[in-house]
Amino acid sequence: MIDDIPLSRPDITKAEEDCVLEVLRSGRLSQGPFLEEFEELVAARASCSHGVAVSSGTDGLCLALRALGIGPGDEVVTTPFSFVASANVILMVGATPRFVDICPSSLNMDPAKVEAAIGPRTKAILAVEAFGNPTHMEAYAAIAARHEIPLIEDCCEALGTTHKGRSCGQFGRAGVFGFYPNKQITTGEGGMIVTDDDTLASVCRSLRNQGRSKQQAGEGGLGAWLAHERLGYNCRMSELNAAVGVAQMRRLDEIIEARQRVAQSYMKRMMYNEHLILPTVDQETGMSWFVFVVRLATGWGPEERDRIIKSLHRHDVGAANYFPCIHLQPYYRRLFGEMAGAFPIAESVSQRTIALPFHSRLTDKEVGFAVQTLELMIDREGLSR
Ligand SMILES: Cc1ncc(COP(=O)(O)O)c(C=O)c1O
Repeated sequence: MIDDIPLSRPDITKAEEDCVLEVLRSGRLSQGPFLEEFEELVAARASCSHGVAVSSGTDGLCLALRALGIGPGDEVVTTPFSFVASANVILMVGATPRFVDICPSSLNMDPAKVEAAIGPRTKAILAVEAFGNPTHMEAYAAIAARHEIPLIEDCCEALGTTHKGRSCGQFGRAGVFGFYPNKQITTGEGGMIVTDDDTLASVCRSLRNQGRSKQQAGEGGLGAWLAHERLGYNCRMSELNAAVGVAQMRRLDEIIEARQRVAQSYMKRMMYNEHLILPTVDQETGMSWFVFVVRLATGWGPEERDRIIKSLHRHDVGAANYFPCIHLQPYYRRLFGEMAGAFPIAESVSQRTIALPFHSRLTDKEVGFAVQTLELMIDREGLSR
């Protein structure tokens, strides 16, 4: 008998509980030693010299854009195939997203299209590792360098992934991780900016903390806590969240190994199914696996895909349509007018994707059940064509 198989589930152990209790008992619930350690652990994993923990991945991206001086009148080249936040942040700082179509295997922006989209108003490239896949990050970095604009790496889905021996988070001027509960590690809610740029890190620290320039109440003499040098936000991560993050980071390798096992199990079971396109991971990538997303072969349509997802739900198998295209979201349609057809590869891919249950404790039996159910639903759809 198989119980409900959720789409995702955080991997929480006694280690996380102990760290949270330690914080509660310490009385120091904000800006304490766990925050510092969490920043060090994540920055080290990304081989960056600074980590600035914030309250979400979205906030991290917003602060990075602001710290880089991007605002009204500026354009930022980005992907239409992502979770909506990666483009929203561009709008939030008053700039305009300039979408470019994706490459059908990596599902990341096509580098040639990125290059072609850069114009006089382009002030940055915001590149997402779709489903954690880092392919083309080096190409984007080279394009950004040629045009003397920053690359911001939205690596919210890519903690722990490596490409050609380099860790995700270090490809751009700034990288931003997200720690929502479906990510490789979680802090409940949270994010982190990583960078080698001392000034950028210090501006981000100030922006997250009400525009203060000194981080601690005691630092900088009397009055420093109430001196605000710039218009800042409160995007601080609490010590409780950081404590969960520290415990998770200490277990990161074990969590990644488990996720890799689950991904391999899915791959093995579906590799010969002619109706499915499996994730493409190149030889030089060590994936930490955010989600496991398959795609129905060309010829299948969005109505069939949606019916398959609903049937999976009826069999208690979590599934989702990761991701609808951003430029086709109602808000973007109102803002920019109808853009259907503008990015045909992203649109075609997003109509056929199915995210399957994925987390570090998924058993082989559960993977087997999810695959069996998916294949049965595909056969059933096929019969009614
Ligand atoms: C690619 C991408 N960018 C940004 C975000 C936003 O992160 P958060 O939900 O922590 O604000 C997410 C996560 O959900 C994401 O997947």
